[in-house]
Amino acid sequence: MKVQRFSKIGFILAAAGSAVGLGNIWKFPYMTGEYGGGAFVLVYLIIIAFVGFSVMIAEMLIGALGRSDTVTSFEKLAPPNKKYWKLAGFMGFNGIIIMTFYSVVIGWIFYYLYSLLRGLPTSTDQAKAAFDNLVGNEVLAQIFFHTLAVVIVGYIVYRGIKGGIERINLILMPALMLILFGLLAYAMTLDGFKEALSFMFEPKWEKLNSEAFVRAVGHSFFTLSLGMGAIMTYAASLPKEASITKTAFIVTFMDTLIALVAGLVIFSFLFQFGAKPGQGPGLVFISLPTILNNFGTLGIFFALLFFLALAFAGITSAISLVEPVVQYLIDRFHMTRTKAVIFISFIYWLVGVGAILSYSNAWGKIFSIGGKPLFDILEYTTDSILLPLGGLLIAIFVGYVMQKSQVKAHLQTFNEMNPTMYRIWYFSIRYIAPLALLFMMLNLLGVIEL
Ligand code: TRP
Repeated sequence: MKVQRFSKIGFILAAAGSAVGLGNIWKFPYMTGEYGGGAFVLVYLIIIAFVGFSVMIAEMLIGALGRSDTVTSFEKLAPPNKKYWKLAGFMGFNGIIIMTFYSVVIGWIFYYLYSLLRGLPTSTDQAKAAFDNLVGNEVLAQIFFHTLAVVIVGYIVYRGIKGGIERINLILMPALMLILFGLLAYAMTLDGFKEALSFMFEPKWEKLNSEAFVRAVGHSFFTLSLGMGAIMTYAASLPKEASITKTAFIVTFMDTLIALVAGLVIFSFLFQFGAKPGQGPGLVFISLPTILNNFGTLGIFFALLFFLALAFAGITSAISLVEPVVQYLIDRFHMTRTKAVIFISFIYWLVGVGAILSYSNAWGKIFSIGGKPLFDILEYTTDSILLPLGGLLIAIFVGYVMQKSQVKAHLQTFNEMNPTMYRIWYFSIRYIAPLALLFMMLNLLGVIEL
């Protein structure tokens, strides 16, 4: 049972720390680059405002009313004849699947922080060769830094809500914002800034195809940490007097702001030196270091700050991916926190090693299924199937299964929502969110064509 509660600001920072992650700083810029800028950003913003925000309120509500691990919360809130809904609570385990590759990417960031000290690459070819070499040949270095990520994350989770999660977010989140806004202030002085603005905010509709649309929906869930029980688990330790609606708004706003700032910073640097935005996942690992080389020693400093911010963002998100299962093991199996953390960390560490090997030249074939590396399978399955499914279950549960009066009573206490707002939110959670998610999932399965 929960005894610890976040402080108000602690909860906001922890939830924002969960949301703001590699998704904002690494994934959002490269996806915006790949899918042509403005139109993708616009769809992303619309989905965040009309679907993501309402689902976040719903997910927080389940946690705040259930006050337990994800499985127990669903079980408690389901009506007596629908207790099988507790199975939805197993969405918490998706966090462990995400962690198998998320921790590997945090490991890459650590490796970059360490190798940046030896200088920046002088050409894109060199930077690409360095990245390819890391992923293809440096298995041991990757395992080392992946292990380091697992240990750091495990230690914070082991320290618990107050001493670990709240405390680390209180430090790392402001540090992250300081770095990013500092970089933004500098980027604004560059000529590339104007180009970055128009690339990100002038929609080029001809670039918006069905794939870009589906990816925008998927990404808005990933970036807000929705559909997996992370926000739900944190909300179980929500301070009593905190408003769900307000917190959800602040978290959504911060997450979006930081993605936009990260995008502006990266594209300003890119355009300043005439680089192309559509370069895929290597964007921050390959293009950015090369470009920063143009600044000489100052460039190394910028690169260090940037990767440091990326590492902070990754760690605060990772702990929210591990905590739900740990909480579940503590509540339902009466494991001690220490045992639960070690057990879970070991499992995703091991699969993570498999993910590393699946990209390596020597072992790649063995760790692939049907020609697809294990890394890609893990990423695709969570991102495109499990998270939207989790989001759908949350929307259906709050919109149709839970008692209407209970939902309404909670969201209208403390004047959280006025009646009009409540009606709009309820409509969104019953119709807009499930339809958008269903539409996206069917599209992915190739059942319908956009
Ligand atoms: N939102 C984080 C990011 O943008 C990743 C993340 C953390 C996440 N917790 C989550 C994604 C829970 C889905 C569900 O990098």
